[in-house]
Amino acid sequence: MESLENLRESCLRCDRCALHETRTNVVFGVGNPEAEVMFIGEGPGEQEDLTGEPFVGRAGKLLDDMLSIIDLDRTKIYIANIVKCRPPKNRDPLNTEQDACIGWLRRQTALIKPKIIVCLGRIAAMRIITPDFKISSDHGCWYESNGVKMTAIYHPAALLRDPRRRPETFIDLKELQRMIKMVCTRTYI
Ligand code: URA
Repeated sequence: MESLENLRESCLRCDRCALHETRTNVVFGVGNPEAEVMFIGEGPGEQEDLTGEPFVGRAGKLLDDMLSIIDLDRTKIYIANIVKCRPPKNRDPLNTEQDACIGWLRRQTALIKPKIIVCLGRIAAMRIITPDFKISSDHGCWYESNGVKMTAIYHPAALLRDPRRRPETFIDLKELQRMIKMVCTRTYI
């Protein structure tokens, strides 16, 4: 059985798509390898590319604030992205790039075995939950696949652009907290 560390080492050498040519660092993912709750974003931005850590820029600061509302922090969860290398100028990752990269996330998820997956934004929700996911109407809805509960909330970068969506996200976070209390046994919040 492969370990998360072995998987990370292979991923750091990945050249499966053209994004490897422009990256500074692969952003594999961080957090608790035994997390029951996994957050999945879209792809690294500039700060993440420079540091190799997900969600360290402005959106990351807001994500930390959002987590603290429900007594979560990065030691209790795991955070990863759909694509591990920064798309130039922060454009949306192409389907071909997502296809090339998704195997890493699948293997990561198989090792971590989360009970709950929270997609951050439309791109992750369309890839993980359903291709016709509409973030404005479907955020906060719950889905289930292979015994894993899944939901999506607005991406923190979207909340920075449009703070009017924050009250809805607060409600989604409180629902997430309720779900964690219901299905998780080792996540104390
Ligand atoms: N946005 C994302 O989707 N992921 C990151 O890691 C940073 C910003």
